[in-house]
Amino acid sequence: KSGLRSCGARGNGLRGREGRVDQYLYHMRLSDETLLEISKRFRKEMEKGLGATTHPTASVKMLPTFVRSTPDGTEHGEFLALDLGGTNFRVLRVRVTDNGLQKVEMENQIYAIPEDLMRGSGTQLFDHIAECLANFMDTLQIKDKKLPLGFTFSFPCIQTKLDESFLVSWTKGFKSSGVEGKDVVTLIRKAIQRRGDFDIDIVAVVNDTVGTMMTCGYDDQNCEIGLIVGTGSNACYMEEMRHIDTVEGDEGRMCINMEWGAFGDDGVLDDIRTEFDHEIDMGSLNPGKQLFEKMISGMYMGELVRLILVKMAKEELLFRGKLSPELLATGRFETKDVSDIEGEKDGIRKAREILVRLGLDPTQEDCVATHRICQIVSTRSANLCAATLAAVLRRIKENKGEERLRSTIGVDGSVYKKHPHFAKRLHKTVRRLVPDCDVRFLRSEDGSGKGAAMVTAVAHRLADQHRA
Ligand code: GLC
Repeated sequence: KSGLRSCGARGNGLRGREGRVDQYLYHMRLSDETLLEISKRFRKEMEKGLGATTHPTASVKMLPTFVRSTPDGTEHGEFLALDLGGTNFRVLRVRVTDNGLQKVEMENQIYAIPEDLMRGSGTQLFDHIAECLANFMDTLQIKDKKLPLGFTFSFPCIQTKLDESFLVSWTKGFKSSGVEGKDVVTLIRKAIQRRGDFDIDIVAVVNDTVGTMMTCGYDDQNCEIGLIVGTGSNACYMEEMRHIDTVEGDEGRMCINMEWGAFGDDGVLDDIRTEFDHEIDMGSLNPGKQLFEKMISGMYMGELVRLILVKMAKEELLFRGKLSPELLATGRFETKDVSDIEGEKDGIRKAREILVRLGLDPTQEDCVATHRICQIVSTRSANLCAATLAAVLRRIKENKGEERLRSTIGVDGSVYKKHPHFAKRLHKTVRRLVPDCDVRFLRSEDGSGKGAAMVTAVAHRLADQHRA
């Protein structure tokens, strides 16, 4: 895997005229050539994850979700949904009506999950979830109803059916004990039984990517990919059953939760990972895991920028070599700061404001440099997502044997939605990397929560059809 150059055509010749930040972060600026190479590697990983013999050692797990069909618009009913694993924990009620105009109505409540619960015992965590659910049902006065519930649980899970889901390993900020290897449906059911004040019918567990795809699928039948770029990053897509060795049967399609955050965990991205990526990984809750996610997602983006600022300051390339305790503190530079700096018309002024908040005394040049660092880090993130998405689009295109693929990608996540340029950059790069696909990006409104209800609704519709 040698010979990968980070900056391709614009690279060497002009290097002398580039700013010092551009030179310093040369390895973070990925050329299209490199992105296509990454895309190719990801394509191999996808095949590895799907294959019977290669699956056990694959780092990209390509997990079957048992979601076989996207909504067809005839779903209806009243559902509850839980959404755990993003920025917030939420409980929702979703009402879907199909009288002529399909309509989705929802109410939701955000609950905090204190950090000690995220990293405490599993029993405590699930008791808390059940308590929030009880509180929500109390508020809506629906505690006496046994409603069907969909659970968006945004972590890698092995599923054998829709309502059974064994957590493989925690990712992002969670590290609650005694949950890995367990079926989260059983854990919730038990927590509800321990309370004994209400009953619920848990119908489906879905990943947030799947929820996002399903929500967008309700509005656009071409939607066959779900993408999240938020706290974590991941995607799912509809794969042909005949290619999924890990599930019986060859007919139709099934949604695969790729868990692409783990791309690179076997070393295949070592040549593009920088010292900053290594540092982020070493300081994380799950070293050696989710290496691709750590280069991309919101949980790490601000911290990457901070590490770069620290190193450059130590080398006297910034802040006249001065550091501040705030700049040295983990987490002090947030992903939101990256968005703010890149978002304002006067991003340089915003950079100054943030650097001053961090106890620094920046020169104009320092502010310009900080702005540029943010741009490079967030652009790399968008480009890396584009590279893996390109592989997925190619794969779907080949599966369908179409000359030109028309496909819709449902997207959600704080980075995608809140960073001022991320979405635009992602779209542009995807279209450049796969010029023979017409891609539509559809922002999902409340995808992960509503999506769980949609999956539950589809499961209900199919069960109805079955009975008929
Ligand atoms: C992490 C989780 C994955 C989820 C993603 C986005 O990568 O492992 O399941 O989809 O974050 O929330």
